[in-house]
Amino acid sequence: MQNVSDRPVQCDRVSVALGPRSYDILVGPRLLETAGQALRGLLARPRVVVVTDRAVADRHLATLDQAFDAAAIAHQSIVLPPGEGTKDFAHLEELTGYLLDAEVERGDVLVAFGGGVIGDLAGFAASIVRRGMDFVQIPTTLLAQVDSSVGGKTGINSAHGKNLIGAFHQPRLVIADTAVLDTLPMREIKAGYAEVVKYGLLGDAAFFAWLEKNGADVLSGRADARRYAITRSCAAKAAIVGHDEHETNDHRALLNLGHTFAHAFEAEAAYSSRLLHGEAVAIGLSLAFALSVELGLCPPADLERVRRHLGAVGLPTSPAEAGLTGIRSERIAARMRQDKKVKDGALTFILARGIGHAFVEHAVPAAALAHVLKNALGA
Ligand code: NAD
Ligand code: GLY
Repeated sequence: MQNVSDRPVQCDRVSVALGPRSYDILVGPRLLETAGQALRGLLARPRVVVVTDRAVADRHLATLDQAFDAAAIAHQSIVLPPGEGTKDFAHLEELTGYLLDAEVERGDVLVAFGGGVIGDLAGFAASIVRRGMDFVQIPTTLLAQVDSSVGGKTGINSAHGKNLIGAFHQPRLVIADTAVLDTLPMREIKAGYAEVVKYGLLGDAAFFAWLEKNGADVLSGRADARRYAITRSCAAKAAIVGHDEHETNDHRALLNLGHTFAHAFEAEAAYSSRLLHGEAVAIGLSLAFALSVELGLCPPADLERVRRHLGAVGLPTSPAEAGLTGIRSERIAARMRQDKKVKDGALTFILARGIGHAFVEHAVPAAALAHVLKNALGA
């Protein structure tokens, strides 16, 4: 049998160019088996701590453990409960306590092995333990592989809201093993796919056209289609983060296309599994294009293409399609005003002049938003 640590590694490599904080994203099947090799060069001493959740541990931790054994890297793991509830102060305390009990040093590496919840929590813990230790992302959901593991946004939720406590802390490496997605439930795959669509809509019309043709294959798990979609998404995010690491100019904000709408509907669903983040993003993408059409900026035909594609892959394009009914538009508008800086009655939104041409607009009239929301909610 071939020793997994000697297996030639076939993967795509995307670089996130951030000067001294630059790092690579590796994308390909079965990269878990060679993760020890990939990490070895980053380690000051041959030891890592892994943080994961129960669902991921049950399916994939044994493979990762073998990879570390094969590379002679000592390892220990903390397994947390799955779900958004884990991104809280209590689990941050548990994780940082575990790391200090393990006597980690600044040069040691924490491995975030899971979806966006584990990645955000682990990254934040790494940013504060011993005033900042290294961490590596091994994302296991489509959403985490194309979005949350890249770019260094880390954090937890608090009673005041989602992602309000956090830090920018870049990982040293991201390893996206496309084969681990084979165990991910289809609903989660679809939710992550909404973020893939986002990259096409915000800046890459050719990619959106490719998704219109190949999206079904990405979802069903055809290996080359999935890998291509993930690599291209990571390249898009890497380019944006490279221009605007800390969201200080309007570049990185483009990644929030559809997200102001999405956050309002997620809050309406109490951040529960009634509406996954990616499902809310799909609704938000449709509404961001509807608002762009309302303002005369975007051809209506492009809005139709967005709706048609999201619908074709089984993502919601309206609150009703996601089972959210009986919500008044004024309630959503009020939530959005809280999320946004309002100046002289105008709001900032990511809009689009067409597919692949998103931009930041700082003067969206409240009346136009009200009209779009009323159409979407029917009240
Ligand atoms: P998640 O981490 O909760 O994972 C979804 C579910 O899938 C969980 O139940 C998990 O246990 C399970 N799972 C994970 N990998 C699996 C696998 N391979 N097989 C079977 N089950 C698996 O959710 P998510 O969608 O990955 O991430 C959502 C989080 O990401 C949110 O907290 C959001 O705020 C955050 N996020 C962060 C950024 C960022 O830039 N930091 C960007 C987008 C989203
Ligand atoms: N997901 C948005 C960002 O990383 O900026």
